[in-house]
Amino acid sequence: MNWKNLLILCWIMVIGSEGLEILKKRLPDAILIGAKKSGTRALLTFISIHPNVSAANPEIHFFDKYYHLGIDWYRSQMPFATQNQIVIEKTPKYLVDPKVAQRVYNMNKNVKLIVILRNPISRAISEFVQTQWKQKRNIFDVEEQARRFNRMLYQNRRGNLTIRKNWSVIRNGIYVKHVKNWLKYFPLESFIFINGDNLVRNPHQEMKKLQEFLAIKPIITERNFVMTTQKRGFPCIRLKPGSDRIKCLNDQKGRPHPKINPSVFQDLDQFYKPFNKEFFELIDQEPFW
Ligand SMILES: *[C@@H]1O[C@H](CO)[C@@H](O)[C@H](O)[C@H]1NC(C)=O
Ligand SMILES: *[C@@H]1O[C@H](CO)[C@@H](O)[C@H](O)[C@H]1NC(C)=O
Ligand SMILES: *[C@@H]1O[C@H](CO)[C@@H](O)[C@H](O)[C@H]1NC(C)=O
Repeated sequence: MNWKNLLILCWIMVIGSEGLEILKKRLPDAILIGAKKSGTRALLTFISIHPNVSAANPEIHFFDKYYHLGIDWYRSQMPFATQNQIVIEKTPKYLVDPKVAQRVYNMNKNVKLIVILRNPISRAISEFVQTQWKQKRNIFDVEEQARRFNRMLYQNRRGNLTIRKNWSVIRNGIYVKHVKNWLKYFPLESFIFINGDNLVRNPHQEMKKLQEFLAIKPIITERNFVMTTQKRGFPCIRLKPGSDRIKCLNDQKGRPHPKINPSVFQDLDQFYKPFNKEFFELIDQEPFW
């Protein structure tokens, strides 16, 4: 075996100021399970600057898509980490796929579960925009986009228009349903619920919660964030307080959002209201939105 193989296959030894540190690939200690279009990428980027965190950059999709490849494959997808680091991976699909919770439980019933959620109405619109672009339907006319949205959103029930509950864009935001499934396997204490809307406005507050939950020093503070004036943009993060090295996210990519009619907002609001209420009662927290 040559040196290169040794590096790739197993571990690297680094002589650090604190002596010998061993970098290894380990199964995750914490998983960011969703929700889609709620700021998962921003949250992972922000927490990654913490020296006690080692995060997998791409979405692994092990528990939903690649489960058949086995746990060793999963481990091989993890980033190198020292014993002093928490290993995190994120795949937003995990929250809504009913197979995943039990599989994660079978891997490690003590794993920490991170969930970031935003208002399901804005989340749905974001996912709709993303889906349209994925299907190469690049509609720049915001009114035409809104008409498409409405065509997908409503179904005709004997002359009455009702919201199509099983459109994935809508269903993904019925958080109570998905979280209930996870709670069959994990106690509430295994979860942290991050407010995705507040992550944009007051990122340091949400990062404080997350660092506490992960039991790492709260070194990411208000001084790390550079607020932007972009309409839907996330704040940028300084790699160290006072540092000029800044990382920004380019999440929305300037895609136009449909011009949704106020009456449609009202319908969506009515639709989500009871689910939201049930959700915050379930997790025993004040409503985020
Ligand atoms: C964070 O890392 C430092 C040094 O790398 C270590 O001394 C400390 O115990 C770690 N903290 C946690 C909570 O793992
Ligand atoms: C349609 O709406 C009317 C008036 O709101 C209501 O009385 C009726 O029960 C609804 N029908 C169905 C099939 O939901
Ligand atoms: C949604 O519901 C309709 C009837 O209520 C059904 O025909 C359709 O297959 C469902 N679609 C999905 C994706 O579940």
